[in-house]
Amino acid sequence: MAKLNVNGKTWDVQAEADTPLLWVIREHVGLTGTKYGCGVAQCGACSVHINGELQRSCSIPLGSLKAGDKIVTIEGLSPNASHPIQKAWAELDVPQCGYCQSGQIMAAAALLKKNPKPTDQDIDQAMTNICRCGTYQRIRAGVHLAAGRGALLVRLLGRTVVRAATLVGKAGSRSRLFRPRSTCH
Ligand code: FES
Ligand code: FES
Repeated sequence: MAKLNVNGKTWDVQAEADTPLLWVIREHVGLTGTKYGCGVAQCGACSVHINGELQRSCSIPLGSLKAGDKIVTIEGLSPNASHPIQKAWAELDVPQCGYCQSGQIMAAAALLKKNPKPTDQDIDQAMTNICRCGTYQRIRAGVHLAAGRGALLVRLLGRTVVRAATLVGKAGSRSRLFRPRSTCH
């Protein structure tokens, strides 16, 4: 039995010491916003904060955690999706299928905490999460917007989106053929 503090609540967890934190969060605590992607600390889909540090929960064994460790998942980042990163993500429609996005948001939130005004290079260096839908441009714009200096980027992105929407509209029924399929998770 292990005691875990997840999103400010204490949980008694009965699991083997080598159980990855990701599965404890999903299966024992019942919070499924944290996703499984690769299982080997490469993709970032499972990102959470432990004592304020970004960590890949698929590679943290339960036995390595202490009762006093504070784990924050996407569900605990803010009470009502009001974290600046979450608001920027919603405003810019950053996600496509959405699978990687809780990890991306956790990574972006950790970045802004350490570096409130990151450059594109800072973002690329700090956020190595993989997005199979290729939302990297919007992720960058979202981080800039949340950092409070993204007005120009947002305007540029907005123009690109409007232009793309017009082109897709002109393509008519063809666009339906190429629309990305949504995925159930
Ligand atoms: S599932 Fe943890 S990094 Fe990919
Ligand atoms: S939005 Fe990133 S994997 Fe789909």
